[in-house]
Amino acid sequence: MPRPLHLHHAFAFLLVASACQRAPTPSSSLGATGIPPRRAPAFPAGWRLPAGEAAAFGEHFMIASNERRASDAGNEIIRAGGNAVDAAVAVGFALAVTYPVAGNVGGGGFMVIRMADGRAAAIDYREMAPLASSRDMYLDAQGNPTNESIVGYRASGVPGAVAGMAEALSKYGTMPLARVMEPAIRLARDGFTVDSSLSRSLTASRDYLTRFDAKDVFYTEGQALALGTTFKQPALARTLQLIADQGPKAFYGGEVGDSLVAAMQRGGGIITRQDLLNYKAEWRTPIRSTYRGYSLFTMPPASSGGITITETLNMLETWDTLPAFGSAAYAHVLASAYQRAFIDRNSKLADPKFVAVPIDQLTSKAYARALARTIDLTKKTPTPPNGSQIADGMHTTHYSVVDDKGNAVATTTTLNNGYGSAVYLKNVGFFMNDEMDDFATAPGKPNMFGLVQFEANAIAPGKRMLSAMSPSIVLDQKGELLLVVGAAGGPRIITATSQVILNVIDHRMNLSDAMRAPRLHHQALPDTLFYETGGLTQSAQDSLRVIGHGLRFIGASANVNAVMRVRGGWEGVSEPRSGGTGGTSAR
Ligand code: GLY
Repeated sequence: MPRPLHLHHAFAFLLVASACQRAPTPSSSLGATGIPPRRAPAFPAGWRLPAGEAAAFGEHFMIASNERRASDAGNEIIRAGGNAVDAAVAVGFALAVTYPVAGNVGGGGFMVIRMADGRAAAIDYREMAPLASSRDMYLDAQGNPTNESIVGYRASGVPGAVAGMAEALSKYGTMPLARVMEPAIRLARDGFTVDSSLSRSLTASRDYLTRFDAKDVFYTEGQALALGTTFKQPALARTLQLIADQGPKAFYGGEVGDSLVAAMQRGGGIITRQDLLNYKAEWRTPIRSTYRGYSLFTMPPASSGGITITETLNMLETWDTLPAFGSAAYAHVLASAYQRAFIDRNSKLADPKFVAVPIDQLTSKAYARALARTIDLTKKTPTPPNGSQIADGMHTTHYSVVDDKGNAVATTTTLNNGYGSAVYLKNVGFFMNDEMDDFATAPGKPNMFGLVQFEANAIAPGKRMLSAMSPSIVLDQKGELLLVVGAAGGPRIITATSQVILNVIDHRMNLSDAMRAPRLHHQALPDTLFYETGGLTQSAQDSLRVIGHGLRFIGASANVNAVMRVRGGWEGVSEPRSGGTGGTSAR
C-alpha cells in the first residue's frame, strides 16, 4: 500500500529535479583504456538483484544469449576461425533448436553489424503480411479484435529468419552456411539434455501448446519433457540439413516451404508458396546517432527500436547531468522522455516501404530539444487515457557477439508470443510465429502488449509489422567498440535496452550492475509508469504520484543479453532476471 502523500515528498522531488542542469555538450573523463571509471550503484533496499556480482569474462571474444548451448555454437565457430557474423548465424540456428520458446526458423528478426574496420550494416528479416491478408482480417462483426492474430494458423507472417541469416552470412561472414549450421544440426539430430528452464517453460505453456501438434513432440502423455531427458528433433534436423545443403531456397519454395504451405492449407492459414517466393531480407542503413560523445548504431524501421531509443537519448542528452539513479526525478525525466518517444513510435513508425517515416526529423537533436522542453519537472504530462493493461509477454530473444578481431553483432529474433502462434509444423519440426499481432490489428486498440498503435501500422499485404526490437552497438568517445546490447520483451525491449546504455554511460555502472539495476517502463499508452517490483523506493513512488504519475509494478521488465569491453577483454551478462538460465560463452 502506498503511504499517504506528504508535501515534503513533492518538495524533495522538486529539489532533486531542479538540481539537474539542462545544457548540451556534457563532458566525461576517460581512463587509459578509453573506458570511463565505473561506480558502484545503490539499489533500493528491497531490490532482489544485488549489485556487485561478477560478469563472465573473455580475453578474446564473448557471446551472450539466452541459452548456453546456443552460445557455445558460436564459440565453436569463432574457434574454428569464423568471425562474429559466422558465430551469430550459428547461434541463431542453434537457438531454434535449444530455445524453441523464441529461437526460430519460423519467425524473423533484425541484426546490426559493426565490423572492426568501421563498416556498419543492418539487416531486416522481419516477417511480412501474406498476400491474402487484409486490414480488418482480425476483427469480429462488432469491430473488436479476435485472438486469431495471436494463436493458430492465421496468426503468422511470412517467416524471414532463414533468408536474413543466410543473407547476413553471405555479405559479412567468412564461412559457408553448411559449416555455421553444423552445431545446430548436431543439437537437433543427436539431441541435447532438457534443462529445468526448458522443462518449466513447456510446463507453463502446456495449455497453449497442446492444442496443436507440439503435443506429440514436447509432451509425453500430457507431461512436458522431463528434466534430464535427451531431446532429439529429427524433423528439425532434416529441415536444417536441407537448408544447409540447398541454401534458403529449401525454405522459400523448396521442400521445407512446400510442407509449410501444405500445413497452412490444412489448418486454415493464408501463407502461400507465392508469399515464400516473394520474401526477401532487406539491408537497411543503421540509425546512427551520438549520445554524450558515444556513438550508437541501431535498428531502423521496420523496427521502431532504433528511432525510439535515439529520440529518447537525444531528449535525455539535453540534461547536462541526469538525476541520480533511483530518484523520483530520474524516473520522471526518463518516463517523460519515453512517453514522448512512444507517442511518435505508435503513430508515425511503420514499414518504410508503405509509410513515409520521418527518420531524420525524429532522430534530430533539434527535434529532441523541442520535445525535452515540453517536460515539466514539477508535473507529469498526460497522454490521452486508456484502460488497457500491459501484458507480461517477453518471448523474443536477443544475442550479442564480439569476436577476437572486435567485429560485433547484435541480433534480436522472435516468434512474438512464447512459442509463437502455438502452431508446430511437425513434418518440418518448428513453430510458426504470431507476428501479425504486431500490426495495429484494430488501430487505436491495444495489442497483446497493451500497445495502442494507429493507421501507419495497419495490416497490408506484403507489409512488415512494426517491431520494438532494438539490437544496438555503442562505441566509446574514442570510437572503440564498447557495448553490444538488445533485449526481448515487446515494447519493454526499447526501455530496457536504453536503460542498460544509460546505466553504463550516465551512471557509470559496470555491465553486471547495469543489467541488474531495476528498470522502468513507459510506452505512452497505457499512461502509466511501470516499475519492477522492489525497484523503486516508497518515497520515490510517493513523489511520483504527487506530480501525477500513475504507477504499476511489473514482475520483470525485459530480457537483455549484453557484451561490454573492459580492461583486457570482454564481459558478458545474460539476463539475471531469467533465473540463471541464460548463457555466455567466451575464450
Ligand atoms: N514481437 C515483438 C516485437 O517485434 O516487438
